[in-house]
Amino acid sequence: MMHFLNLSDFSSSEAESLLKEALSLKNNKDNNDLLKGKYLALIFEKASTRTRVSFEVGMTQLGGKAGFLSMSDLQLGRGEPIEDTAKVISSMADAVVLRTISHETLNLFADHSSVPVINGLTNLSHPCQLLADLLTFYECKGEIRDAKVTWVGDYNNVCFSYIEASKLFQFDLEIACPKSYWPSTEVMQETGVTFTEDLKAAVQESDLITTDVWVSMGDEGDSENRIKEFNPYQVSPAAMDLAKTDAIFLHCLPAIRGREVSEDMLEDPRSKVWVQAENRLHAQKALLLKLLDH
Ligand code: CP
Ligand code: NVA
Repeated sequence: MMHFLNLSDFSSSEAESLLKEALSLKNNKDNNDLLKGKYLALIFEKASTRTRVSFEVGMTQLGGKAGFLSMSDLQLGRGEPIEDTAKVISSMADAVVLRTISHETLNLFADHSSVPVINGLTNLSHPCQLLADLLTFYECKGEIRDAKVTWVGDYNNVCFSYIEASKLFQFDLEIACPKSYWPSTEVMQETGVTFTEDLKAAVQESDLITTDVWVSMGDEGDSENRIKEFNPYQVSPAAMDLAKTDAIFLHCLPAIRGREVSEDMLEDPRSKVWVQAENRLHAQKALLLKLLDH
């Protein structure tokens, strides 16, 4: 039994085979019933569109069922310990997806769960998003090894998972972000990736440029300062022109046009964001099949 709490839970070869399996599931629609009779519990403490729907549809397409449970509707909301909740839910469900505010809550749940637990986003990381991003790169451009990837934005949960992906798949990652939002020197050294304030330099020779909202869920208290500081970091077709001619653009979504992306960026031919969003479904179907060991 294995959990998927971070991308680093997989070896490089496991992650590579998972992407190949995801592409094969995408191209071969005849994969009904592989998870017949299985139940996936989706427990969410924060809002979601893509993660929730892709797991629900994925389970349905594989012949199983998924049930959505808002954390505040569970007895958890009235003080039942997370440990007890994990024991009870995992005694009935076959796997659990958790989206929590704190990564510690996810770890605690996983420690007391008898079935696989999947990280559906925490304050620390968003590994399911990276499966879709890596699948999209693989599908649109081929192997990511030795490619240059530019992350534009703060050192947030999606960025953390990009850093893990850069180690697993051996690509060069550069992070363009105002200095006031860089992590501590110690953390920066641990990441082993380059941080810069220079957006124009960071996108040069890039194969993939990716960004995220300037204000993640939970960071709303700092909105005003973030909008001011990140203002020079908008990704636009003009910024893409500085990258390689065949570079692609990704965004985990939801996006705010006029902030981290220009009004026209998402519909630019170099943008693969709609493929990327659909790929959440295919990547997570492959993940479910791996963890549920059909
Ligand atoms: N990208 C992503 O995780 O989207 P949701 O918050 O809509 O699930
Ligand atoms: N960094 C964003 C990702 C949303 C999918 C957030 O945590 O809100």
